[in-house]
Amino acid sequence: MKFSVTNGHLELYPDSCIITGIFEELNLFPSTKKIDDVSKGYISSLLRRGALHGKVMQTLLLYDVPHLHNRQILLVGCGKKSDFDENCYRKLIRKIIILCKEIPIIRILLFLSELNIKGYDNYWKIRQTMEIVNEELYVFNKFKNNETTLNKSLNEIILHIPNENELEYCKKSIRDGLSIVHGIKIAKDLGNMPPNFCTPDYFVNQVNELSNCDNVTINIINALEMKQLGMNAYLAVGKGSNYPPTMPIITYKGHPAGSNVPPIVLIGKGLTFDSGGISIKESNKMDEMKYDMCGAAAVYAIMHIAIELDLPLNIIGILAICENMISHTSFRPGDILTTLSGKTVEVLNTDAEGRLVLCDALTYAERYKPDVVIDIATLTGACVIALGHHFSGLMSNNQNLADELILAGQQSKDYVWKLPLDEVFQKQLKSTCADITNVGGRPGGAITAGCFLQQFAYKYRWAHLDIAGTAWISNYCDKSATGRPVALLSQYLINRSSHKI
Ligand code: BES
Ligand code: MN
Ligand code: ZN
Repeated sequence: MKFSVTNGHLELYPDSCIITGIFEELNLFPSTKKIDDVSKGYISSLLRRGALHGKVMQTLLLYDVPHLHNRQILLVGCGKKSDFDENCYRKLIRKIIILCKEIPIIRILLFLSELNIKGYDNYWKIRQTMEIVNEELYVFNKFKNNETTLNKSLNEIILHIPNENELEYCKKSIRDGLSIVHGIKIAKDLGNMPPNFCTPDYFVNQVNELSNCDNVTINIINALEMKQLGMNAYLAVGKGSNYPPTMPIITYKGHPAGSNVPPIVLIGKGLTFDSGGISIKESNKMDEMKYDMCGAAAVYAIMHIAIELDLPLNIIGILAICENMISHTSFRPGDILTTLSGKTVEVLNTDAEGRLVLCDALTYAERYKPDVVIDIATLTGACVIALGHHFSGLMSNNQNLADELILAGQQSKDYVWKLPLDEVFQKQLKSTCADITNVGGRPGGAITAGCFLQQFAYKYRWAHLDIAGTAWISNYCDKSATGRPVALLSQYLINRSSHKI
């Protein structure tokens, strides 16, 4: 899909479908007024006859409007002017794109920037439009013989900006937006790959494709190096698999003040499949555990975005990749593991494996003397129970960092909700024979998982995102990775960039 911005006149776009809005009060947008004038009152006459009431989401598609040379006009109801907000805007864009999939349209000229939304500018409107369009048009058909039929004719969306002096700023929005939607697609495609294809070595091959980029180095910590380092918790999880654990590290140095500026470290949980191990999962929905690598896919996608946008930051992406399988070589409930930090962990459930790979990755991250560390993980079913599929769980040892992530979530509409990492939860991790156990029982399960990680993240500012409920959707016949929280984290990084320049 091509996206661009313009402040040109309607007449310049004869082959485009013009999309413009109308409020319930029936006062016309400037562009609708223009169409009405050119067509000698055709629109106002339609309104008088009750063809459109301006109710939110109501639409009217017009062909051959008198005296007008544009191919089609799509009028969309925007509801009451005083009620219009950013969520209405998002719903409208979604409705428009779903409608445009059905009709033969090549190009859209969108006038919705004329809608004022308090607190949200045209940069935001353009970015959101791009993300919603890409979400609605996304298909994963790598493994289908008969490709899903989609309207392939729509290939360009032009966003109209009334103000010429905003043009440069809006072009920046398109540039940022293109990289971000590209990143989201990368994360979705990787997430959707089946676990017999997306194995640990496949994942590493994907990462290696970044090795030729400017300012990027790739370093892969293989199982042997993990052994030498003492990453025994991480290694234990992969013991039952034919594919050895592997931890690719993508280093991006974009900070103008040089490579010594403390980096932002992102760590992604990358279980290419989580059977539960010897504490095996029930078979119902076990297929969905191919998505247990969505944290690592998000980190990988974010690195793409940082590189494409040339962000003025130093960022390190650590992908904690392995596979949790069942075999006579698997680790067992009862095993005691000495982690890279030296702390010992009693395994009470081999299905609580995410925290075991992450704890060693968190300790490993200390060597970078990081500014902040954020881990992203499909960590607990309990988080899905707590927050459903709308908010990712956020836990942090630093309120400022948490606030920055909450803000980025509100801006990107990729929301997070903070859960308390209070000391009182720590006692649920008490072990009779090791320093801690790897499970804290059912009550507050998302939080005790966070508390477990916190014990390995005390040397720096740290946040944990539990994306178990948000990384993929699973409806009756619609199952797909969502690409979350790529939008959230790229917004966070963009916000961080503007502080720094
Ligand atoms: N990857 C799962 C978490 C998960 C489960 C995400 C279902 C989304 C849907 C994780 O490795 C896991 O199995 N967690 C256990 C922890 C428990 C044994 C303490 C869980 O949530 O059941
Ligand atoms: Mn598990
Ligand atoms: Zn898991």
